[in-house]
Amino acid sequence: MALIDLINAKKVGQELSTAQLQEFAAFAADKATPDYQLAALLMAIRINGMSPSETADLTLVMAQTGDMLKPEVGGIPVDKHSTGGVGDTTTLILAPLVAACGGKVVKMSGRGLGHTGGTIDKLESIPGFKTELPEEDFLRIAREVGCCVVGQSGELAPADKRLYSLRDVTGTVDSIPLIASSIMSKKLAGGAMGIVLDVKLGSGALMKTMEDCMRLARAMCDIGRRSGREMAALITAMDEPLGSHVGNALEVKEAIDMLAGRVQGPLMEVALQLGAQMLLLSDLATDEAQALEMLKKALNDGSGLKKFRQMIKAQGGDGRVCEDTSLLPTTKHTTALKAPRDGYLARINTEQAGMAAQALGAGRLTKEDAIDPGAGYVLYKRIGDRVRKGEDIALLHHNKDVKRGLDLLSSALEFFDTAPQTMPLIRARIAPDGKES
Ligand code: URA
Ligand code: CA
Repeated sequence: MALIDLINAKKVGQELSTAQLQEFAAFAADKATPDYQLAALLMAIRINGMSPSETADLTLVMAQTGDMLKPEVGGIPVDKHSTGGVGDTTTLILAPLVAACGGKVVKMSGRGLGHTGGTIDKLESIPGFKTELPEEDFLRIAREVGCCVVGQSGELAPADKRLYSLRDVTGTVDSIPLIASSIMSKKLAGGAMGIVLDVKLGSGALMKTMEDCMRLARAMCDIGRRSGREMAALITAMDEPLGSHVGNALEVKEAIDMLAGRVQGPLMEVALQLGAQMLLLSDLATDEAQALEMLKKALNDGSGLKKFRQMIKAQGGDGRVCEDTSLLPTTKHTTALKAPRDGYLARINTEQAGMAAQALGAGRLTKEDAIDPGAGYVLYKRIGDRVRKGEDIALLHHNKDVKRGLDLLSSALEFFDTAPQTMPLIRARIAPDGKES
């Protein structure tokens, strides 16, 4: 079979057979295949779409172009995936809490790119922490500690790696079958049997409408179930940074403050809701209320923080950060952002707020950029909060010149005279039994 035949079939909207999709995945994983042919097929898929069974087939054959892990961790291996946000540190909170409840979290995470942060960059801000581990160590830590978070190895879904790098530059990112198959190919290869999806909705999210979020969540749940995985999904708000801290070490600090019970807020709320779904998929709780109760107990008795310390130590990091967050990297300078007027914080362009952290050094524009682990900001106000002119509303942490980051953050914030309507944090859910609410 030649790639041109697949391009011609998709060009006229034909459904590709499993055998044809297998060819496509093999071509994508083969370095000798020209970019332009893969790009043409991606565009044909972007325009003509794929059926649910076609999408599920593509996902599985993409996963099978690389290693397929079968984690033996003494329980049901569970994972969580977020479609990406700002100040979105739920993994660092829920992984230890779920582990403290007896769960086995096998998590492969990505690095930040563009306006969204990445869990791997956050963890690497902890002195000594290793995110690249041999597979045996990864699985041993998941088994013994109950959670392990590593970067995705190059051996996982190589077809996706190639296609993803082309999609960015060919206008083919915004396709639900392509997004769903890209994310789920890596999740299937990672071997988790229970997968919880956090699909973000709002000004800082990949998906901007509820309808698109639900279509994506349903597509991903459908793919997982067809491969024998148990699935659940939440649609959660990303119309402002989820936590108050944005930046790598800053987000680790916020996660520790929350696990230590010093700080509460929406970030904790979303982490608990996602963690509850993970306990349900782990068969460790029979309903959501019981799952939440278990997680809150692990939070209140300190066993969650203890798990986080164990995981950090097992992965080579300095576990003392759990008692003393001043051991995390900091920056030479801080600069306050002042409220420009009296009023209410009404709207945040969250993508731009993410770019502000990137401009301060917390993120990268290209894959090769180095990041400054201490850089970022703490936002003191949430949407709906009242502000007085001249009051500090954020503190920027930086080594480099602050001007661009300060300009981006200040122009991302909009103030009104009257209090805006605030939206619920959890916007929709797809339960493990497929029921939507
Ligand atoms: N994340 C992925 O891994 N793939 C996509 O297509 C979009 C987000
Ligand atoms: Ca089950």
